[in-house]
Amino acid sequence: MKILSIETSCDDTALTIFEVKGGIQNANFKILANASNSQIKIHTKYGGVYPMLAKREHIKNLPILLEEVLKKSKLNKKQRPVEAIAVTYGPGLPPSLWAGIVFAKELAEKWKVPLIPVNHMEGHVLSVFGKDKGKFTIPKVKTPILSLLVSGGHTQLVLSKKWMQYEIIGESLDDAVGEAFDKVARMLDLPYPGGPHISKLAEKLRIESKQIFQGLRRATARGRSEFFSRKIATLKNFPALALPRPMLYSKNFDFSFSGLKTAVLYLIRDLGQIDQKKKAEIALEFENAAIECLIYKTRKAIEKYKVKTVIVAGGVAANKHLRNEMKKIMDKDMKLLFPTPLLSTDNSIMIGIAGYLNYIKNKKKVPKLDSIKATGKLRLQ
Ligand code: KG4
Ligand code: ZN
Repeated sequence: MKILSIETSCDDTALTIFEVKGGIQNANFKILANASNSQIKIHTKYGGVYPMLAKREHIKNLPILLEEVLKKSKLNKKQRPVEAIAVTYGPGLPPSLWAGIVFAKELAEKWKVPLIPVNHMEGHVLSVFGKDKGKFTIPKVKTPILSLLVSGGHTQLVLSKKWMQYEIIGESLDDAVGEAFDKVARMLDLPYPGGPHISKLAEKLRIESKQIFQGLRRATARGRSEFFSRKIATLKNFPALALPRPMLYSKNFDFSFSGLKTAVLYLIRDLGQIDQKKKAEIALEFENAAIECLIYKTRKAIEKYKVKTVIVAGGVAANKHLRNEMKKIMDKDMKLLFPTPLLSTDNSIMIGIAGYLNYIKNKKKVPKLDSIKATGKLRLQ
């Protein structure tokens, strides 16, 4: 069957048309067309997403993107081009969610096809099984599955004792980790969204300091004390910054990033003038602190629940340091899954996957159109 999926939960408008077949464990997807529009440029000057502006942009872009995916997949919109529509109904910004839902409802009525409401976070979990284009099959996955969902709006540890069953075992009590990255980036005068910029600065310094330490070790082994003392001079005061790792030793699986963000604020205030080098040092120490909190709790949860498969998804899953540190805590018999870069940020491919799998799981039963409402604080269960 053909499915159209729609995602508008935040600042990305995205539509995908798939040809899908198969059951819940071996579903087969073929992407016929995928189109999206990012509003990053529009929201940059506000330093974050401005909800009413996001809604207006979604309303403007949805019909344009629909034309584009129909044309690309050579389907005629007058002749019921798809047999079902999947749409994100939460969590997210309610004005943005409504834009997608209203558009999807109109199409579902016009084409007389079922509308499948999709939880955006389930989309992120299942995003690791997708591809950016072409065909893919959902493999059989060993349970228990632990998903670390890290984005601009969420930081959650989700346990699936069974396939497509979810229990949130830990989450951020305040800021999401991506939000902390974005706010710290703003303090450092880096553009929005700040995560990738912080990460780039941090990674460069991480590699440089690793090279210096390796050089030092080699020089010391060869007894070159003069080289050693020269390098020690460059390393003096490094790392001079120490940021807290909030809730690292708390007995639960929750996180907190607002204290870390405030610590950066005070640090910058105390330092007064910060040059490019200090900026990079702050970025590195902040990234180390934030990722250490994520890794520590993930490792604890893996041990407690004897996890077989680990999923890391959401915008922050693109972070290189997080990826490297996650690999280090895996056992040989465990599988670690990440989405492709395109599928780690918000997209409609993951919404199509979650939509179709739920449609099959619920034996093709869908709620009445009137009952589908934007649910900003929707939770996984
Ligand atoms: O999932 P996503 O696209 O949108 C939300 O649902 O929030 O995630 C966006 C978040 C932003 O906070 C962004 O700064 C962060 O993901 N992000 C990163 C990286 N790439 C994106 N954070 C850290 N390192 C990255 N490489
Ligand atoms: Zn998201």
